[in-house]
Amino acid sequence: MKKDFLSIADWSSDELFELIDLSKKIKKNPEDYRRALHGKSVATIFEKQSLRTHVTFDVGIFQLGAHPVYLTQADISLGKRESVYDTGKNLERWVDGIVVRTYAHKTCTDLAKAVKIPVINALTDFEHPCQALGDFLTVHEKMWSFSGKKFVFVGDGNNVCNSLMLFGSKVGMNFVACTPEEAVKQADVIYTDVWASMGQEAEKEQRMKIFKSYQVNKKLFYLAKSDAIFMHCLPAHRGEEVTDEVIDSKNSVVFDEAENRLHTQKAVMLTLMKER
Ligand code: CP
Ligand code: NVA
Repeated sequence: MKKDFLSIADWSSDELFELIDLSKKIKKNPEDYRRALHGKSVATIFEKQSLRTHVTFDVGIFQLGAHPVYLTQADISLGKRESVYDTGKNLERWVDGIVVRTYAHKTCTDLAKAVKIPVINALTDFEHPCQALGDFLTVHEKMWSFSGKKFVFVGDGNNVCNSLMLFGSKVGMNFVACTPEEAVKQADVIYTDVWASMGQEAEKEQRMKIFKSYQVNKKLFYLAKSDAIFMHCLPAHRGEEVTDEVIDSKNSVVFDEAENRLHTQKAVMLTLMKER
């Protein structure tokens, strides 16, 4: 049966550790993988905006010797111009894999059900597994282990939080999604994300009030361990969920996370597409 990367829940602990190991190898020796997907094509469909995911997939596909075909809503209007099913049945005749960012998680799973080629979730309203994989590689690089470490997500329990929580549970990390103060004590990792995700713009004002006390600022960060790291999937809304003094501090690893999206997504594509 073909394998997709739709939810962290679908991958075993061993498989996730294998992806982290492969990501480390790719990061160390990218030249060894220059032609690993030579001659293949990958469609990358984006219903929402993106900087990190779009660029890291584009560059990653190129670095593996394959060819990316970037498709926005303006190009294909997924599910509107024609059904998700028909879109998938066309694409599988031409390309070897699909990367897809959608609003509804169901659009992503419906597309995966329709096609015989691997589908990679590049963010839905429910999960962001590629983000979690890049982030756990970052944590592993900084701490050399997951077990016994305390990972605290502060803020909106959103798509990123869901994938991180699932990943934490698979690799034996102590994961806390929380209200601030008490939960942050003795944390090894403090992670936050925007309070209004893509598609929730109309709720922004209300959300600003609800999450005000969840801001990751110097006072809150001080409650964590002295060598704790600060993480954020980005884009950050500075002055809202995080202050400049935290995101720009020496404890912040946000751009390491962004870099690791490239290596880990290459590992996912290699794992899913190499044998095809
Ligand atoms: N972190 C992340 O997925 O960023 P983009 O929305 O810019 O892709
Ligand atoms: N939770 C954010 C993550 C962006 C990478 C969003 O969905 O907008």
